[in-house]
Amino acid sequence: MTALHHADFNRPKGIHRVRTLPDPALGALWDSIILDEALKDQLVSQAMLNFTMRGKVDRSVLPLHGVIFLVGPPGTGKTSLARGLAHRTAQSFKGGKFQLLEIEPHALTSSAMGKTQRAVSDLFSQSIAEAATRCPTIVLLDEVETLAADRAKMSMEANPVDVHRATDAVLVQLDALAEQNPQLLFVATSNFPEAVDTAFTSRCDLVVHIPLPDAKACAAILCDCLTGLGRTYPSIGKLAKSTDVARCAAACVGLDGRAIRKMVANALASTPETAMNPDSLTADKLLASAKAAAANRLQPGRKT
Ligand SMILES: Nc1ncnc2c1ncn2[C@@H]1O[C@H](COP(=O)(O)OP(=O)(O)OP(=O)(O)O)[C@@H](O)[C@H]1O
Ligand SMILES: [Mg+2]
Repeated sequence: MTALHHADFNRPKGIHRVRTLPDPALGALWDSIILDEALKDQLVSQAMLNFTMRGKVDRSVLPLHGVIFLVGPPGTGKTSLARGLAHRTAQSFKGGKFQLLEIEPHALTSSAMGKTQRAVSDLFSQSIAEAATRCPTIVLLDEVETLAADRAKMSMEANPVDVHRATDAVLVQLDALAEQNPQLLFVATSNFPEAVDTAFTSRCDLVVHIPLPDAKACAAILCDCLTGLGRTYPSIGKLAKSTDVARCAAACVGLDGRAIRKMVANALASTPETAMNPDSLTADKLLASAKAAAANRLQPGRKT
């Protein structure tokens, strides 16, 4: 992972990581997420359009803000897709250097009155705006509900006024950056879209719902996982090609992509023997683990 940190210097507050694009590691991440190809193409096209057209057409004609929003249940690949999309976008503009800034929203929030709003304003109006003058820039706003919390649903928890102002600051800054910086694209994610302010969502150029994997996608994710393990443990690779794997995949329907991969890890840890010698994993153990994961998901009280 050290290669991912090569551009990681002089980070202003709130910018968690800076990466130079294209980055093949992010390309592999993009490829590892099993999703309807048409949806993937739509994401790349929207991101490309942002950089080809936004600076050339007046905002009174097309009011683009340069924001793509990925929403969906936890573990469905949103953060991975957002990073991969940054790579794919840069790659489409052959030869051009792009950069990806990853924002850490929790670093901006503060219990001190007015501090969050100030930190948000500074991040957008100084750090991001300045970075975007250097080269085309993609900004990952992961778990954006933290920054653009729904002002209509503020509870009486600590400093609701401050949270309110932080959301206001995000909206004001997005408008300002949309006006001044056509070489900028935000990719936001949330697994809790009800908590995101509707004025933020309204500013998004494209909102894409990332669904739980369907039966075919579950099988593909399981296969990808087993094939990947097969590079280290050849017997697990053979399991990926066996007919038994279809039964295991069927048992995974209803699980998200993260849960499917974790289920495989649980199968490997189902006995001390497989933990010590992963090559001894059997289809039966995998099936038992898939069924346990699915049953766990259905337990009452668990949010689905
Ligand atoms: N559709 C998918 N295909 C393949 N792998 C997937 C898929 N969805 C999730 N995964 C795997 O699950 C893990 C978690 O993915 P990621 O962190 O991108 O999810 P997320 O949607 O951002 O989750 P959260 O909402 O909890 O932040 C990754 O290892 C990823 O490879
Ligand atoms: Mg995520």
